[in-house]
Amino acid sequence: IEKQPGYATSDKASFAWQTARERWPIIITQAIDDVYRSVHAVRDDAAKEDEGKAIVEKLARLKYEVQHDRALELIADDGEPDVAAYNAELAQLNAAGPVTWLKAPWLYTECYLFRRMSTFFRTSEHWPRYDPYARQKIRTFRSSRPAVLELAARYRDLMQQLEKKDSAAVPADVAETLFAEMCEICLWGNATDLSLLTNLTYEDIQKLQGAEARRKAEANILVNDLPAAYSILTKARDAAAASPSAERRVDIVLDNAGFELYVDLILAGYLLRAGLATVVVLHPKNIPWFVSDVLPSDFGALLNALANPTSFYETPSAEEEHQGQPAPAKLTEAERADLAFLFGEWTQLYANGQVVLRPNIFWTQGGSFWRLPADAPELFADLQSSELVVFKGDLNYRKLTCDYDWDPTTPFSEAIGPLGKADSGINVLALRTCKADVVVGLPAGRDEELRAADGGGGDSGQRKWAWNGKWAVVSCSQGKK
Ligand code: F6P
Ligand code: MG
Repeated sequence: IEKQPGYATSDKASFAWQTARERWPIIITQAIDDVYRSVHAVRDDAAKEDEGKAIVEKLARLKYEVQHDRALELIADDGEPDVAAYNAELAQLNAAGPVTWLKAPWLYTECYLFRRMSTFFRTSEHWPRYDPYARQKIRTFRSSRPAVLELAARYRDLMQQLEKKDSAAVPADVAETLFAEMCEICLWGNATDLSLLTNLTYEDIQKLQGAEARRKAEANILVNDLPAAYSILTKARDAAAASPSAERRVDIVLDNAGFELYVDLILAGYLLRAGLATVVVLHPKNIPWFVSDVLPSDFGALLNALANPTSFYETPSAEEEHQGQPAPAKLTEAERADLAFLFGEWTQLYANGQVVLRPNIFWTQGGSFWRLPADAPELFADLQSSELVVFKGDLNYRKLTCDYDWDPTTPFSEAIGPLGKADSGINVLALRTCKADVVVGLPAGRDEELRAADGGGGDSGQRKWAWNGKWAVVSCSQGKK
């Protein structure tokens, strides 16, 4: 059985408290502003305009309900099969007295918030697939230009080196260090999700992204199971040496679009080219989710930006023009070539079926991943045929661990329930920067130390050190023989 109840929005010591009161209203307001802007741009289509205005009103009402701690309403049927489960769970929670926004289980209610918003669009005729966060996602990706260019150059260089050498000729320790570095790039790419942007500036983001920043940040990885993950992949490779056509799959349960998706693709490309996998399956979301999560359309938007770097990077945005900012610097020939290389590489891997996008409705349901075997048996079986399933980001980690108030020294395998069993058939790797309370797998005394340090929460009872993405945990659990 799932560990319940987890953190709640009524819990003053939890990040849930602040999230529900400060961050959710901002997140809804951002959607309102965005739809408003799109409605404004509608030409000669009164029906679409009216419907857009009605959506804005629904969003505004939702915000009111959150801020005034109203009861959670049933989700309207928008034709998707998960509405029933959301509503059944709400009924169950309500059995103990009506659940209101500010006195509710954090994990369920936050999922419910995004699910509820999506029905406003899904039930409309003119806006069914509209993503109110698309603009924000692509804008932030554009502002991560320095890190994007730096990584594109490094990736190209690396691939050209790998091509020259037989991968067997790379010394073992160099190969392992490279793997670790690729994973760390991928890890810290998560530090910059947009739902935290409510308290982070673009400059902070750029600081978080460079190579130097990454080296310094290594000390901030509290648990680092990358060696175990590497050995899983190299063992699989060695075992398949006799049958080189055998599939060796790595799955990535994606988190955020933009820069994080970019580094996920860097990792995917590297794993394939270095022979650590033959296929990488990416799992995006079906509906706009926790502001910045990847939708299939974000994948297209990213490739599009790389395909047209001049218009993407050199055309000033409306905001930049409005603020009278100097025109963005022109890309150099080398930068252009690096981006073209990446674009060629990724479109080729995608066309070859070596990089696959596989959405599933399970990822946007309201519960934890302890429910995966029972609620999504086909998806579970599919993941069992992977060598390694990488879960990116904070929310995935919360879902793996039930968002439960574990003792921080609890072993990771125990905290992830059925997926962590020695015979689960799944190897799990969580790459997570900490942006919420739950944390497991720490050495005894570490949590206390971090709390006692500056800004760590002190004796407030709050685990503040874990709220801002500064610290990370990389945890592996092996469920395959
Ligand atoms: O607001 C809840 C939350 O899950 C936070 O814990 C985190 O800040 C954010 O949403 C999502 O982070 P991520 O994109 O890393 O899952
Ligand atoms: Mg996210």
